[in-house]
Amino acid sequence: MSNNLLAGKKGIIFGALDEKSIAWKTALACHAQGAQLVLTNAPVALRMGEINKLAEAVQAPVIGADVTNMDDLKKLFEESQKQFNGGVDFVLHSIGMSLNVRKGKHYTELDYEWNKKTLDISAMSLHRVLRTAWEMDAINEWGSVVALTYIAAQRVFPDYNEMADAKALLESVARSFGYQYGVKKKVRINTISQSPTRTTAGSGVKGFDAFIDYAEKMSPLGNAPAEACADYCVSLFSDLTRYVTMQNLFHDGGFSLTGVSEAVINSIMPPSE
Ligand SMILES: NC(=O)c1ccc[n+]([C@@H]2O[C@H](COP(=O)([O-])OP(=O)(O)OC[C@H]3O[C@@H](n4cnc5c(N)ncnc54)[C@H](O)[C@@H]3O)[C@@H](O)[C@H]2O)c1
Repeated sequence: MSNNLLAGKKGIIFGALDEKSIAWKTALACHAQGAQLVLTNAPVALRMGEINKLAEAVQAPVIGADVTNMDDLKKLFEESQKQFNGGVDFVLHSIGMSLNVRKGKHYTELDYEWNKKTLDISAMSLHRVLRTAWEMDAINEWGSVVALTYIAAQRVFPDYNEMADAKALLESVARSFGYQYGVKKKVRINTISQSPTRTTAGSGVKGFDAFIDYAEKMSPLGNAPAEACADYCVSLFSDLTRYVTMQNLFHDGGFSLTGVSEAVINSIMPPSE
């Protein structure tokens, strides 16, 4: 269903790797709501070629950019502005990568060189994107930036490893830059804290299957699917949420405020007949 909530709006979507990606679903939802898009991902991800299917579906160009490279980001915003014939109204940051998780290092034994890369790709990249846009004055007044995060920033989920620290930093950057960009140009910046979701990045976390079942049992509404996350992004890019900024917004079916659920208790200790 489309209400044309994003008619006339132009946005850059980072992080659509394949059709499971939250960014992929968000691009489809934004397109259905009338937005014009530019898709971007790291050159290595583009070589997989999957993104070309999405590009065709949403009639958007694909521009490669490694989010840790300032020259790439500058080119991305320059080319996007040409494509849009003007400024950008919204940006989705849907990027995460942990080298220590990928290489099976325990949190107590982190390799710090990998850790630096993880923090750069997964968290400081939001600062890099915002700074590039800021210096080029590339985001329009009342523009909206959303980055995706996870509740391990607030509470311990041991297997989430160094990504917990990366998400805490990401959320802090959203707040700190949200202040600056709000004052300067009424640009709003928020993070959405999403339920565990079966994607390439999500499935990289150890014990993911058990974990997704646990979250499902703990959430009164059940885990929020990627499609619903895409809809939430649309609402934050739309003019209906113009005074929401610097927030970490839970999109998790109620998981974050549930202490324990009957479903979890029953799975530990089934009720006696
Ligand atoms: N899947 C989950 O359970 C879950 C839950 C909460 C939050 N998130 C967050 O959602 C976001 C999207 O992840 P996803 O689950 O859709 O997985 P995904 O694997 O589909 O997306 C991750 C993206 O990051 C991109 N990326 C990695 N390094 C990059 C770089 N140097 N430059 C540019 N892009 C780079 C990848 O190419 C990929 O497209 C991430 O921030 C993730 O942490 C995911």
